[in-house]
Amino acid sequence: MPQTQLLPKDQAGIDRAAALLAAGDLVAFPTETVYGLGADARNDHAVARVFEAKGRPSFNPLIVHVADLAAARDLARFNDVAERLAGAFWPGPLTLVLPLQPGGGLSPLVTAGLDTVALRMPAHPVAQDLLAAFGGPIAAPSANPSGRISPTRPDHVLEGLDGRIAAVVDGGACDVGVESTIVSAVGAPQLLRPGGLPVEALEACIGAPLPIDGNADAPSSPGQLASHYAPNAAVRLNARHAAEGEVHLGFGPEAGDATLNLSPSGDLVEAAANLFHHLRQLDETGRPIAVSPIPETGLGRAINDRLRRAAAPRP
Ligand code: TXA
Ligand code: MG
Repeated sequence: MPQTQLLPKDQAGIDRAAALLAAGDLVAFPTETVYGLGADARNDHAVARVFEAKGRPSFNPLIVHVADLAAARDLARFNDVAERLAGAFWPGPLTLVLPLQPGGGLSPLVTAGLDTVALRMPAHPVAQDLLAAFGGPIAAPSANPSGRISPTRPDHVLEGLDGRIAAVVDGGACDVGVESTIVSAVGAPQLLRPGGLPVEALEACIGAPLPIDGNADAPSSPGQLASHYAPNAAVRLNARHAAEGEVHLGFGPEAGDATLNLSPSGDLVEAAANLFHHLRQLDETGRPIAVSPIPETGLGRAINDRLRRAAAPRP
């Protein structure tokens, strides 16, 4: 990939950034917490490239950034607590995990195949301008390589990701400097990650203590989410061919007769983009799923991580 462009935050820069996102490219942008690595949240390939650019060894679900409450309601269902928290703290450094609204059009890779979604309405004017110009949801994890600290200035983003992403919108230094506070409002509210919005403010708004979900994905242990998408069907790994009664999820040209192929050309970004779609489709057949070997390089590590979890014995 050519060198990463540093775009100004004026209208020309914002329009260029929005056009890159619409073309499926990756653009880092400032939020009030940290810089986010943005991709069109409805585009499977763009989202797969986020994981590739960050070098993430697993498919953690990503935060989806929205322009306003109407856009948020298209993607997720809000209970009373969620309404109250969004009303009090959006736009701002609060992310709400909510039940996914079916038909919202998000790539299943954004939610790692889960039926919940993490939503945030950022307060930073550049993030708001970009969301308005793009006109759709933007998936954005922090704009750092996996395992490194979150960037709060454009030069931090370039230090980690130069040449791996199309552009960075220059919004100077971030005010808050730590990631958003994440609250699950899927059922009773729970704190999933402490962050830029103090827990005391949330508790004052809810009028009750906010329990901490001890199993949640702490920033110190990325990828260790308590719940994962798992197919109903049994999954058999490293299978070059389907056995009697199985369906076959193939990879690469050697799997020409597979029921579905993650990438006939053996492209790991394409395979990642297809992973959850294909698994769900094969699961609907009600048959066991045999999966071709996937190379343990690049996005293959994240794909294999998910497949191993899918194949693991269930409690
Ligand atoms: O301030 C922030 O939140 C920044 C800016 C860019 O918005 N973003 C950020 O994203 O920190 P990231 O990907 O580094 O952290 C997202 C966290 C992960 O720990 C992930 O597991 C959790 O959100 N998450 C996302 N979707 C979830 C879901 N459906 N259920 C539970 N946790 C979820
Ligand atoms: Mg992060």
